[in-house]
Amino acid sequence: MNLYEAIYVRKSVRHYKLEELNQEVLEELKAFIDHLEPLFPEIKVKVKILENIKEKEKLKGLLVPNAPYYLVIYSEKKEKYDLNAGYIMQQISLYLTSRGIGSCFAGMGKPPKKTEEEMCFVIGMAFGKAKGETVRHDYDAKRLSLNELCVFKESPKTWVKEILEAARLAPSSFNSQPWRFVVYENRIHVFSKKSPSAGKNWRKFNEFNFGVMLANISVAAEEIWVDLDLIKLNNITHKTIPNNQYMISILIKQ
Ligand SMILES: Cc1cc2nc3c(=O)[nH]c(=O)nc-3n(C[C@H](O)[C@H](O)[C@H](O)COP(=O)(O)O)c2cc1C
Repeated sequence: MNLYEAIYVRKSVRHYKLEELNQEVLEELKAFIDHLEPLFPEIKVKVKILENIKEKEKLKGLLVPNAPYYLVIYSEKKEKYDLNAGYIMQQISLYLTSRGIGSCFAGMGKPPKKTEEEMCFVIGMAFGKAKGETVRHDYDAKRLSLNELCVFKESPKTWVKEILEAARLAPSSFNSQPWRFVVYENRIHVFSKKSPSAGKNWRKFNEFNFGVMLANISVAAEEIWVDLDLIKLNNITHKTIPNNQYMISILIKQ
């Protein structure tokens, strides 16, 4: 399975076998992390693996699955660092799925160390061998439909629809799915909708969630061989869709 296929079957795994992964698998994971492409290479980040079997290093806190391993990401607090961290962590989550390893973001998790080389902790993610299934069918994912997420201004090209489907399947904190899309033939304007049920954590994870969703989009674009330009346009305001905040535009070129 590759990362694109993983988008369709990935799910949050909350029950783990407290077993070690083989050393080779961990080394390959580290190599993947070392070589993945961030959204903003100029923002310094560090991703660490915590080992909870022998070392008893774990994320503590509410709603954190008990897992044999955790990934923790630290980042410089520059503008858009959350977006960048989400983009990185979702690529890792997809990679783990592709290797038959389960994972689950743990937004409330507290790491043993809050800072690392003057970078701040952003979020953690549990991972390891799942007690049940590591994957599911895409139709079992609880997600809004494309018709609920999009305003179609023009009929999108096939590849634009594939990109939107990958975005639709992205995980988000509390499954809030804050993204809304205004869709043209070959471009998408992305907005953020505040859910009425969202608590104070909404703001905390909002940009991170968008990073996660953009990772799905770029994995899909690579798979279907299209080039993306992510740009922020000045002439788009919240007036385009009321109660939504404009985030970014995606130009898709074949
Ligand atoms: C930023 C973020 C934080 C999350 N925090 C938690 C968490 O603390 N505990 C948990 O069990 N799941 C957490 N999740 C997982 C979401 O609840 C899950 O992705 C969403 O409900 C969709 O389900 P799925 O991942 O199975 O498709 C988090 C996800 C994201 C993106």
